[in-house]
Amino acid sequence: MENKQTFFDFAAEVGLTKHPGGVGATEELIELCHIGEGKCVLDVGCGAGVTPCFIAKRYGCRVVGVDISEGMVERSRERAKREGLADADNEHPGVEFRVADAQDLPFEDDLFDAVITESVTAFPEDKQRAVNEYVRVTKPGGYVGLNESIWLKVPPPPEVVAWASQDVGANVKPLTSGDWVGLLEGAGLREITVRTYEINTQNEAKEIFRRYGCVGMLGIWGRMLSLYARSPAYRRFVKEVREGGITPENLDEYYGYGVYVGRK
Ligand SMILES: C[S@@+](CC[C@H](N)C(=O)[O-])C[C@H]1O[C@@H](n2cnc3c(N)ncnc32)[C@H](O)[C@@H]1O
Repeated sequence: MENKQTFFDFAAEVGLTKHPGGVGATEELIELCHIGEGKCVLDVGCGAGVTPCFIAKRYGCRVVGVDISEGMVERSRERAKREGLADADNEHPGVEFRVADAQDLPFEDDLFDAVITESVTAFPEDKQRAVNEYVRVTKPGGYVGLNESIWLKVPPPPEVVAWASQDVGANVKPLTSGDWVGLLEGAGLREITVRTYEINTQNEAKEIFRRYGCVGMLGIWGRMLSLYARSPAYRRFVKEVREGGITPENLDEYYGYGVYVGRK
């Protein structure tokens, strides 16, 4: 049973999820997707729920977060409660969370003003089907925005592949920027905006702190220590991460992320 635990099971237990570029990249998606007061937004693969709560609080939106992991949805609901955002209705912006697969969203057509995903669409088996789903549930004229890891140059050397694997979860292989644009075009999106960046590990670490704050980080470290003490599977996972964790000097040449936004 323990051996079947994955990267995301541990992330859900610890309550820490991330995407490249952190809050800065989220703000970029928000701007490019024209997210503002009164809009209805879907965050697919919401992880620990940080982005939905941030958007609801800062921009006065109603935000629905979905994630394939029950553990993540639990963490998200806890966060919403802590932040006083749990009771959303038509008059009070807030958040709600559901378990759902990006490839099969449980919503009617043309529902959301914007659908965003941050470091999620690299994971489903059928990425085109996932992007088609984002477009299906977006209102005509609305926006779909993705933030995903990419290879800036191919083929990446083995040490860069090893580092990227431990960074995003061992079962994902980043695509090139052109691959992502192809998925958006394949789903019928227009007016596509693309912005690509190198990964800067120092900036990534800073953005994690900015996203969770000091108190949030103390809670995360406490849960990490507790999990380390009681779970041999987590200890093995940490050992593997440490072994793959030495940052290759040529990382920024090959590994990056892109923000991709299109209009329905
Ligand atoms: C790298 S985390 C990013 C989480 C969040 N977007 C963030 O920025 O903190 C990836 C998330 O995608 C979720 N996920 C993976 N495959 C999925 C799928 N097919 N449908 C929905 N969520 C998925 C995982 O459970 C995890 O919470």
